[in-house]
Amino acid sequence: MKKVRKAIFPVAGLGTRFLPATKAVPKEMLPVVDKPLIQYAVDEARAAGIEQMIFVTGRGKSAIEDHFDIAYELEDTLSARDKSHLLETLEGSRFAPGSIAYVRQQEPLGLGHAVWCARDLVGDEPFAVLLADELLWNPGYPCLKQMVETHEEKGGNVIAVLEVPEEHTDRYGIVDPGARDGNVTEVRGFVEKPKLGTAPSRLAAVGRYIIQPAVFGLLAEGARGAGGEIQLTDALARLIGKQPFHAQTFQGVRHDCGDKAGFIQANIALALERPDLEPAIRAFLKTI
Ligand code: G1P
Repeated sequence: MKKVRKAIFPVAGLGTRFLPATKAVPKEMLPVVDKPLIQYAVDEARAAGIEQMIFVTGRGKSAIEDHFDIAYELEDTLSARDKSHLLETLEGSRFAPGSIAYVRQQEPLGLGHAVWCARDLVGDEPFAVLLADELLWNPGYPCLKQMVETHEEKGGNVIAVLEVPEEHTDRYGIVDPGARDGNVTEVRGFVEKPKLGTAPSRLAAVGRYIIQPAVFGLLAEGARGAGGEIQLTDALARLIGKQPFHAQTFQGVRHDCGDKAGFIQANIALALERPDLEPAIRAFLKTI
């Protein structure tokens, strides 16, 4: 079985929910404590053994490219001032030459279209997709690593899921579940943003995918789905029955950072895990 070596990060979205903060700053660069959202996803991919990072970007997103590049003046100044502890904070944003690639999605035609834009960079091998606004937090055993292990065992396609409240099922890709074995459930159907009351379960896709390259041929058809967009969910649903297809129930804490409340909660939760910040944050929370 081919190993999952490449990951796609769709980062072309406009981030309108965070305006005006995202007028000039990509939403993926908003920090949770002191690290931009996109770097949590990239760190997760690296921890799962991903070797090649592919960003599907758009206009106004060049801060992401700069973030994952050498910052020559900054690094030179820090070295000259003997600030090696600060230089260490930049480690996670460094990559071997050639291990990051960027491709532009010229028009916002949907997540399926964004993934399709990376087809020639992925080629004929399984790949991961990570949506950075879903901060899936389990630093000891990251979500994508959980999924890679399931992929090594079962092959085919693997999507991360969590149970959401019934009244939120119209916001997600929802799984029609088959047999369940521990945290792994067979997928019998997959539907994007079903109307309330029609969802086949409460198992929602939470922004992590391991996908077989056959999906590119289906995405190429450009069929429009929910919201008039080319949906990844619709193309994946067509692989069910032809290839193994499993949902991995994520073990860890999900922070929906595409949502303001979720984003603020993520900042509080992760700050409370930091020994240098925890006392001050906890003391402040008690006062309000
Ligand atoms: C996308 C996917 C959806 C998934 C969700 C997770 O939707 O299309 O299937 O459940 O991400 O965050 P979006 O949030 O981009 O509308």
